[in-house]
Amino acid sequence: MTHLIISAHPSPRSFTNYLASELESRYKAAGMSVVWRNLYKGSFKAVLDPDDLEALKTSDIPSDIKAEQELIRNADLISIVYPLWWASFPAILKGYIDRVLTKGFAFDYGPDGAKGLLQGKHVLIHTTMGNSVAEYNRKGLLEAFRAIQGKEVFEYCGMEVVGHQFYEEITSADKEKREEYLRCALNMYPEIN
Ligand SMILES: Cc1cc2nc3c(=O)[nH]c(=O)nc-3n(C[C@H](O)[C@H](O)[C@H](O)COP(=O)(O)O)c2cc1C
Repeated sequence: MTHLIISAHPSPRSFTNYLASELESRYKAAGMSVVWRNLYKGSFKAVLDPDDLEALKTSDIPSDIKAEQELIRNADLISIVYPLWWASFPAILKGYIDRVLTKGFAFDYGPDGAKGLLQGKHVLIHTTMGNSVAEYNRKGLLEAFRAIQGKEVFEYCGMEVVGHQFYEEITSADKEKREEYLRCALNMYPEIN
């Protein structure tokens, strides 16, 4: 089984990158083949520009997009690990989704409308955030996050979102809390425990 971890936090000292790195080592220890794709490593272009748009129309996929698609193609399980920024994905992750989950690779249109092409892949979503879950629940936004940052992207592409975990008030979480969050993260896919 191949596990692709995609993370999107600029600081190596962040809880987000700590979580991604723990997931990498724990899943490896459980015998999985793991690839950690930290979007801030290297020079991933995160804006779908006019050249990309024209290229995608002709199926002449830019090589950096092809390389990311290959990682997804080879993955059975995909973990997305990111902080909530302005109630949404960080721009680098949004740009990754815009550029990499292309028509013809991730979805296509048929007589019955849009059809996801990435069936059989499981997705785990890990969202770290400064605010509390209770506050977003009160505003009716938590379910919106699950839909917009989860199902509307990954299930649209045919993948199955098997869990979406929110790590609240992360900036004030102590060591104990962070360890509890790590246990929650690992319990999302009990197959490895
Ligand atoms: C640009 C920016 C926007 C943010 N927007 C939100 C937000 O909308 N909601 C929220 O709960 N936290 C927000 N935060 C806080 C981050 O989610 C929080 O700092 C992050 O999860 C911390 O993760 P770390 O411990 O991995 O560094 C924002 C932080 C930044 C830098």
